Amino acid sequence: MAEAKRGTARPETPLAYCRKVWSVTTTSADVIYNPYDHETILNPHPLFRRMREVAPLFYSEEFDFYAISRFEDIERTLLNRDVFISRKGVTLDILKSDMEIPKGTVIFEDPPEHSIHRALLSRMFTPKGVSSLEEGVRRLCASLLDPLVGAGGFDFVGDLGMLVPMKVIGMLVGIPESDQESVRDHFYGQRSSDPTTSNSLSGDIFGDYIDWRADHPSDDIMSQLLYTEFEDETGVRRRLTREELLAYVNIVAAAGNETTRLLIGWTGLLLAQNPDQRRLLVENPALIRNAIEESLRCEPNTLQNCRFVARDVEICGQLVPEGSILATLTPSGNRDDRLFDDPDRFDVTRKIDRHLSFGFGSHYCLGQALARLEGRVVFEEVLKRFPQWDVDLDGSKFMYFADQRGYESLPVSIP
Ligand code: HEM
Repeated sequence: MAEAKRGTARPETPLAYCRKVWSVTTTSADVIYNPYDHETILNPHPLFRRMREVAPLFYSEEFDFYAISRFEDIERTLLNRDVFISRKGVTLDILKSDMEIPKGTVIFEDPPEHSIHRALLSRMFTPKGVSSLEEGVRRLCASLLDPLVGAGGFDFVGDLGMLVPMKVIGMLVGIPESDQESVRDHFYGQRSSDPTTSNSLSGDIFGDYIDWRADHPSDDIMSQLLYTEFEDETGVRRRLTREELLAYVNIVAAAGNETTRLLIGWTGLLLAQNPDQRRLLVENPALIRNAIEESLRCEPNTLQNCRFVARDVEICGQLVPEGSILATLTPSGNRDDRLFDDPDRFDVTRKIDRHLSFGFGSHYCLGQALARLEGRVVFEEVLKRFPQWDVDLDGSKFMYFADQRGYESLPVSIP
């Protein structure tokens, strides 16, 4: 069993460590990182390993941003919210586009707004509330999978990934089943090959639902959010406006749909590529929970999570000037051998107590418990019915975005 490395000799100060290891330049002739390069998006791991070795702080002249690749540097950066801020965007495209961020979009906020809005939004994700969804998620998976038994194959994304996360968010906020498909189409329809528009959060798909809920309150989370009083950043006690609530629901749907869909696709692929690991799960389903962690660690659905640098800062002995964009390379941190033994190996028994796939620090994913629950239940139900499958990579479709990488379609055949 591979263990997460613990107690690896730490430097007295992080900065001193960086200086010792890397103190010359931030660019290296043989390392070029292009977050739009399809080959890199598909398999960033060899390049990221090289970056961790020779360019832990990399500067891209072509796209004018910095990137860090080591686990500890990434964690430290994400913790320092005074210097590395989110309000100008957290993807390269948004940071470059200077787009206006809709109000209440927690993922793009800093204190004090972020703390207030996150506290309100976290009411959606109480441990009790999330675990109460498990039976519904299981019933949903069974209803999707049972008709596929005997069909000879299915699509991990088309038959599961596209449906489960969207319907579960519907369950979470109480959206009627009949409206859930248009919600999903709304979000997936926003993706285009133009990177500057691919993350648009516009749209009013939930507006009618909120208005209806305002007239028909119940004990669901939407009604609670509509009627909750809170103190805003100006000290005024009030309720959320319709626009604020709309932004909340939009961000939850945007943050929770595609990400979880990609997790389902990656896990379907990793298990097919590692049949010995899949067999372990069939023999011992209790390992599936950990297999989801290992899948998240090995193939995060994002290449990088960015921050705007609010003031001059030294990283790895180099000055990173105020106004820069800093990318933290999630798949790289997750395979840093300073922390993980044999990091490129997919090992469902690995002891994993940290990875970066849900972020770190104050913006740590609010939906992580729900995503973990969905991943676990989906694969418990899949493996019960299908202990083996072969992936048809030629028939698959991959989504080449730096902020969301993974399969749009992953057909498999059942031997
Ligand atoms: C495998 C699935 C998922 C992954 C990999 C993922 C990943 C992330 C990451 C990396 C962040 C932090 C972004 C940053 O630091 O800038 C984040 C934040 C967030 N996620 Fe997730 N997420 C997943 C599923 C979900 C789900 C299912 C929901 C809700 C239904 C959700 C809701 C959120 C929200 C609301 C935030 C913003 C938190 C804040 O800014 O304080 N996520 N997620």
